[in-house]
Amino acid sequence: MFDQMNLISSRRQLSWPAVFLSTLLSLICFSTPATAADKTAADYYIHSLPGAPSPLLNMYAGHVEITPEHHGNMFFWFYKNRHIANRQRTVIWLNGGPGCSSMDGAMMEVGPYRVKKDGTLTMNDGSWDEFANLLFIDNPVGTGFSYVDTDSYLSDLDEMAVQMTSFLEKWFAIFPEHAHDDIYIAGESYAGQHIPYIAKAMLDRNAKKDHDKWNVSGLLIGNGWISGKDQYPAYISYAKQAGLVKADSESAGQLDQMLAACNVELKSGGKDHVDVQRCEAILQEVLRISTKELGGQCINMYDTRLKDSYPSCGMNWPPDLEQLNPYLRRDDVTQALHLNPDHKSGWSECSGAVSSHFRAAKSKPSIQLLPDLLKHMPILLFSGDKDLICNHLGTEELINNLEWNGGKGMELSAGTWAPRSDWTFEGEPAGIYQSARNLTYVKFYNASHMVPFDFPRRSRDMLDRFMGVDIANIGGAPADSLLDGEKEPSTSVGGHPNSTAAQEAEQDKLQEAAWRAYRRSGEVALFFVLIAAIAWGYFVYRDRRRRAGYAGLFGTDPDDGTGRAPEMASGLGLNGYSDRRPQQSKEQRDVEAARDYDETELDDLSGGRKDSKEQERFGLADSEDEEDEGRPGRANGRVA
Ligand SMILES: *[C@@H]1O[C@H](CO)[C@@H](O)[C@H](O)[C@H]1NC(C)=O
Ligand SMILES: *[C@@H]1O[C@H](CO)[C@@H](O)[C@H](O)[C@H]1NC(C)=O
Ligand SMILES: *[C@@H]1O[C@H](CO)[C@@H](O)[C@H](O)[C@H]1NC(C)=O
Ligand SMILES: *[C@@H]1O[C@H](CO)[C@@H](O)[C@H](O)[C@H]1NC(C)=O
Repeated sequence: MFDQMNLISSRRQLSWPAVFLSTLLSLICFSTPATAADKTAADYYIHSLPGAPSPLLNMYAGHVEITPEHHGNMFFWFYKNRHIANRQRTVIWLNGGPGCSSMDGAMMEVGPYRVKKDGTLTMNDGSWDEFANLLFIDNPVGTGFSYVDTDSYLSDLDEMAVQMTSFLEKWFAIFPEHAHDDIYIAGESYAGQHIPYIAKAMLDRNAKKDHDKWNVSGLLIGNGWISGKDQYPAYISYAKQAGLVKADSESAGQLDQMLAACNVELKSGGKDHVDVQRCEAILQEVLRISTKELGGQCINMYDTRLKDSYPSCGMNWPPDLEQLNPYLRRDDVTQALHLNPDHKSGWSECSGAVSSHFRAAKSKPSIQLLPDLLKHMPILLFSGDKDLICNHLGTEELINNLEWNGGKGMELSAGTWAPRSDWTFEGEPAGIYQSARNLTYVKFYNASHMVPFDFPRRSRDMLDRFMGVDIANIGGAPADSLLDGEKEPSTSVGGHPNSTAAQEAEQDKLQEAAWRAYRRSGEVALFFVLIAAIAWGYFVYRDRRRRAGYAGLFGTDPDDGTGRAPEMASGLGLNGYSDRRPQQSKEQRDVEAARDYDETELDDLSGGRKDSKEQERFGLADSEDEEDEGRPGRANGRVA
């Protein structure tokens, strides 16, 4: 009971400053013209979104200016969570490239909407905004809807991290209510370079502050490009294992020669670089070899179950790009997303200009940052097993060769390896899990380079497990997700939590709290009534005894008790009782207000659309940037 009351009152304490702040913000917002420098959250609020089902999700989007001297503006699209579990969490999602837009993630992978062929949006069953706020950022400048002067593209990872940190400083100033959320950074492919660099920059920034530290709570990297020295040779192992190249064939011999040349370059300093040209050639050769088998077509380097024309080999995949591209180029859509008119060119998935400038020639590969990061936070590496370009064998190899937190690879202690747990999801074999010393590896069966594109619900289950989402607080159906047959933490909802049920449970809990408070104030009142009644009875008794004297009889003196009783009563607290009535109902009102408040707050926090059921997602479609072909084959150079 007290907990419930405390909960409510602490929520209120949290909320009033928020109300005050937002009032203040709206005053500021009305009193000064919103320029690029002083935009408020209200300026970013998405009031409508073409093709979206109603009710609309609670979203914000637009540009944040980071380098005015170069007109550098980064674009973000922020989806507020639909429910809060036990903590406020924000997941930042980044796609790869370098130079590929995070709208891929928003509209084809982890975001709530997907675009259909007719330009309408449907809900993604398994989207990541259920229990976490989701922040998609087009990174670095020049990517997607982000822009910058053409002479100011970035070339290295630390520059990128500096700009991202300055973006985040500004972003949290606009959305201060999220500055203390648990922050997770997630992404895919070349974001395997970006994410560790950003995390490190955030920790370095924290070290210089004694307050307002960012709670960087974990990293998730899907089919990441992290360590060339481990991942280049894996092109050959994968090609052999997948039967793309037959062992002992002429092609296999050719690949082995190329690997020898690659190894020479790796040894002479190449291992300290993100990209090594001689090694890149291996992937090109694997693709070329695949055309022999496939009569002119090649395999899709992002999903080796598929074929594509040579030399695209997957560059036009996934198919949703066909819808996504025109959708994100619509005027009504770019208006809804508050695009600055300065962003002149239409959206394209990947920017060749950004990619060709971002050589990362001076940057060491992100693998070298992992051991230190793992001292501070858990990291999850996940891999779709049908991807070639950043394939799972390379990821396993980099884990095996990595030393961190007092051990090497997935060893628990010298000579003892962390078990690989079978993961089943809704009755189907979904993959394997393996964890040691803050590093978790998840292999997804039958999944491509873009795991959440193939398995949104499974990817959500993975996210919720990783973040420790506790659905026990809010109800909703737990996912049918087992590790080695065990339910493991009862923390996961999987891809389609029954939002309605969760909301009803939420509401019931609040109602119950209100009732308990009501009952309690009733009990308090009753207690006073009883005391008053006893006291009153006693006084009446004594008074009558006194007045009546030895000869008196109760009830016979017209002047006695009855005439005085009300006064006495009031003196003794019966009036107090009736006085308490308004007080009680005031208290009750407070509780109700608290509850209402709470709901609005939950509403706010959850994106304001409590009754949203299954909504629709949209997809996006766009075609490739020609310039991209300038760096062909650099698979991780391009996808998501
Ligand atoms: C940061 O997030 C982690 C993970 O949820 C949590 O355990 C920790 O208490 C948080 N720290 C702060 C200062 O909020
Ligand atoms: C793992 O990360 C946590 C923070 O989440 C940290 O406190 C802990 O020390 C790390 N574990 C090791 C073995 O370094
Ligand atoms: C997915 O992968 C698992 C394990 O490799 C396999 O048992 C299952 O048949 C696969 N499913 C499909 C549809 O390919
Ligand atoms: C969601 O919950 C409601 C209320 O408990 C129930 O009527 C409905 O069938 C559930 N829907 C799904 C898809 O589980």
